[in-house]
Amino acid sequence: MEPVSTSPQATADGSLSVFSPRYGEWYSSRHGAARQSRTVFLEGSAAHLHPAPRVLEVGFGLGLNFRTTLADTAGRGAVLDYLAFEAFPLAASVLREVSAGEENALWLALLVTWDAGTAAGELSVSEGRATLRVVFADVSAADLPLGWASAVYLDGFSPARNPEVWTPEMLARLSASLAPGGQLATYSAAGAVRRGLIAAGLAVERRRGRAAGLVGKGEFLVARKP
Ligand SMILES: C[S@@+](CC[C@H](N)C(=O)[O-])C[C@H]1O[C@@H](n2cnc3c(N)ncnc32)[C@H](O)[C@@H]1O
Repeated sequence: MEPVSTSPQATADGSLSVFSPRYGEWYSSRHGAARQSRTVFLEGSAAHLHPAPRVLEVGFGLGLNFRTTLADTAGRGAVLDYLAFEAFPLAASVLREVSAGEENALWLALLVTWDAGTAAGELSVSEGRATLRVVFADVSAADLPLGWASAVYLDGFSPARNPEVWTPEMLARLSASLAPGGQLATYSAAGAVRRGLIAAGLAVERRRGRAAGLVGKGEFLVARKP
């Protein structure tokens, strides 16, 4: 299991995050983990407007983006199909700690099967109208579904520390996984990432993090498949 160097710490909006010794970075924004998850990933990808979002996530981490999306779809009665890749899974005890108070039945079922799933290399849980599949593998070498996702959440650690999930080849494969009209969202606004997304055939928009309520964050990217 992936070690963390501290117990969970509160970010600016009170939601919890942990620090990764492997990457030397926090799993989510210190300026507000839950706010970033909602603004950049859920709303950036427009998953909150889709009647039945199909989400492909790079880096399941603490499961925060999943919980944000699940709360949204459960709240409006939408069907959710979520596929996440995670190369270095955290222990179930860490996921439990950062999600204390979470009562969604699918999340609780996930916590129960998490350790067996990481040992098996994959897990799948369904509850009501939501399905989650987590593949415990390096996404840069994994098969991705073609033309499937209405939303891609590109949420690796930074391009400097976690380069394999930001290469032009990887961005092209993520673009290929999007259905027409689907949107990729990522917190990075690095020039190389923007150029890679454009080269992958996506229409890229820079959004201002500050205007979206993300204090301390300059810009993030939303990339739409024509
Ligand atoms: C910033 S954290 C993701 C936070 C997560 N999206 C959440 O909502 O809690 C980045 C995640 O990407 C994972 N990761 C890094 N490189 C990867 C790779 N090549 N394949 C799959 N997962 C990877 C890390 O282990 C880490 O869990």
